[in-house]
Formats: sequence, C-alpha cells, structure tokens
Amino acid sequence: METRKRILTGDRPTGPLHLGHYIGSLRDRVQLQDTCETFLLIADLHTLTTHASPEKIARLPEIIESIVLDYLAFGIDPEKVTIFLQSAVPQTAELALLLGNLSSTARLEQLPSLKDMARAAGLHGMTYGLLGYPVLMAADILLVRADLVPVGKDNEAHIELTHELARRFNHLYGETFPVPETLPGQAGTLPGTDGAAKMGKSQGNAILLSDSPETIHRKVMGMYTDPARIRADIPGTVEGNPVFAYLEAFDTEKDRVKQLEEQYRAGTIGDVAVKKVLIEVLQQFIAPFQARRRELQKQPNLVEDLLATGTHRAREEAAKTMDVARSRMGLNNSTRRRAAASQETLAVTPFTGAMI
Ligand code: TRP
Repeated sequence: METRKRILTGDRPTGPLHLGHYIGSLRDRVQLQDTCETFLLIADLHTLTTHASPEKIARLPEIIESIVLDYLAFGIDPEKVTIFLQSAVPQTAELALLLGNLSSTARLEQLPSLKDMARAAGLHGMTYGLLGYPVLMAADILLVRADLVPVGKDNEAHIELTHELARRFNHLYGETFPVPETLPGQAGTLPGTDGAAKMGKSQGNAILLSDSPETIHRKVMGMYTDPARIRADIPGTVEGNPVFAYLEAFDTEKDRVKQLEEQYRAGTIGDVAVKKVLIEVLQQFIAPFQARRRELQKQPNLVEDLLATGTHRAREEAAKTMDVARSRMGLNNSTRRRAAASQETLAVTPFTGAMI
C-alpha cells in the first residue's frame, strides 16, 4: 500500500482569517488535502505566548469557531483533514518540555521573529513562554510525526529548529522522529490595505473572509494606492500598489488586469475606477463562500463536534508517539509505568469556582 505523506500545519486563533490567509495558506491546504494526510492545528497555546490576558482568553472560543467555519466554507473537507485543538492534546506540553532540554537559549534568542512578536505584543522583554514558541511548534509537528510542514516565511526559521531538535533527539536516544520537510507557500504574501508588506490579523489592514459586501466596499475605498498620484491624469505606479496586488491575486480576468495596469501607468484611469473593479472582484469572490458559511452555521454544534473528533484522533497519534519517545529516552521504566498507571483511575470533579 502506498503511504501518503503526512502534513501538519496550523493557525493561532488571534483573530478571524483574512484574504492573506486564503492566498498564503488556505488555498494550498485545500489542494494538499487530496494527496496528503493533513493535520490542521488550532494553536491556542501559541496564542497565549503573546495574548495571555483573561480578556483575550475569553475571546478564544468565538475566534476558533470563526476560523473553523472559514476552513470548511473555503473548502477544507473534514473527512480528509483532522482539525484539532492544541490545548486539548496534553502530550503537546510534555513533548515541548522534553525538547526544551535539547535547545540552547542562545539559539532561541537569536530568532528575530520572536523579538518582533514580543515588540508587537508590547511585552517588556522576552518571556520564557515566547522564547519556547518554536519548541512548542516542534512538539506539534513531531507529535504527529509529520513529513511535511507548509508554512509562510515568518515561520521558516522555526521549522529549521524542528529539524535540529528531531535530529538531536534521534541522535541521542535513537531513531524516533521523521525529520520533516518545509513546504513553502505557492504564492507570495498579500500586502495590507495600508500598503504594509503583509496583511495581519491585528494590524487593522486586513479584509476578512467574513467581511460583508459593505465592509469590503469601505475597506477598498480606503486603501493605500500610489501616494505620489494626486490626480487621475498623473501616471501611477503599479508596483507595490496593493490595489493591483489584490487584482492580480483575485481577478480571474487576467486581460482586464493587464489593461487596467497599462491605463494606470499611462495616467488614463483614476484610483476610484480601479478600486470599483476590485470591489466587485472581491465581493464576487467571497459571496459563494459566505453563502456556504451561513449554511454551515445553521448546523448546531458543528464546530465543537468536529474539533472533538479531530482532537481525539490527534491524541491517539500523540499517545503513540510519546510512548515511543519515552521508551527511547529510557523513561518508560517500571517505576514510571507504575506511577503513571495511577492516572488511569483518576476521576476529576468539574471545577465549579469554589476553592479546592
Ligand atoms: N506559528 C504558526 C502561526 O504563526 C502556527 C503554528 C503553531 C504552526 N504550530 C505550528 C504552523 C506547527 C505549522 C506547524 O500561526
């Protein structure tokens, strides 16, 4: 039997998904689900590295629901893809702790991505948790023994660390983890509506997959274009102009895009006219997905049930992996087994708010 490659990828639930996610990852995932066995992770523990306040945590269920609905509406098939919740796979924390002993803090401190995240989150200095962000990613990936990890540019350095940790573990304790390959995105990144290099969940420069036609209209009308162009008859610049970047990404009528670009460069068409085309293109692109999303929303408990099933499946894989990993490390001795067995009879009363 041919064995299919296994993929692990995921998103942090810091906000709803936007057009940048569609272009940068969601579209690729929908294609890959037919050829690869995909695990799709909702990385809520990763969210805590920069969003640990009770207010942010309170928003998680709503954001998670919105993200999973977007996955489904935009073509992720839950029959093919295991969608699961990171914090409900307890082995994640265990493996992250074990892997943490195989990485030097100096190696982690060198990663510019972590410093950027700390700054963006307004943290005063680096936390232990954020420093461990890439170690936690390695745990996600290695727990399901993934072969391939599709990620964007900002996560590539983190996957490098996963490679190092897998190799180091295998070298020290014996062959345990496949060393996964990075799968770079098929398309580039989509700029923000403000002209920033990247559309971001928290930058206020995103068009959401769940935005209404009116919101799309308003956001496109407010988009950054070419600041040097103060009149429609001045030749404009297409390069670095997000209006054209979006047209290139979403308008299926390529000849029209080319023509608009020529007119823009020649100074024979105004910004507003081009934006109107873009508004229509985006509204038409999004409408069928949103119709599907509304249908899905009518199914009670859909997201919760899916996550429950997917998480169960991920836990099974994680349990298998941890059994091997502990054995290789020599942790699975009879003393530990005996002590760990006491867990099986544990019945926990749900927390009611009273002190224990
Ligand atoms: N760090 C990813 C992000 O920026 C989310 C993520 C967590 C992830 N664990 C992962 C991606 C493992 C790929 C593989 O959203």
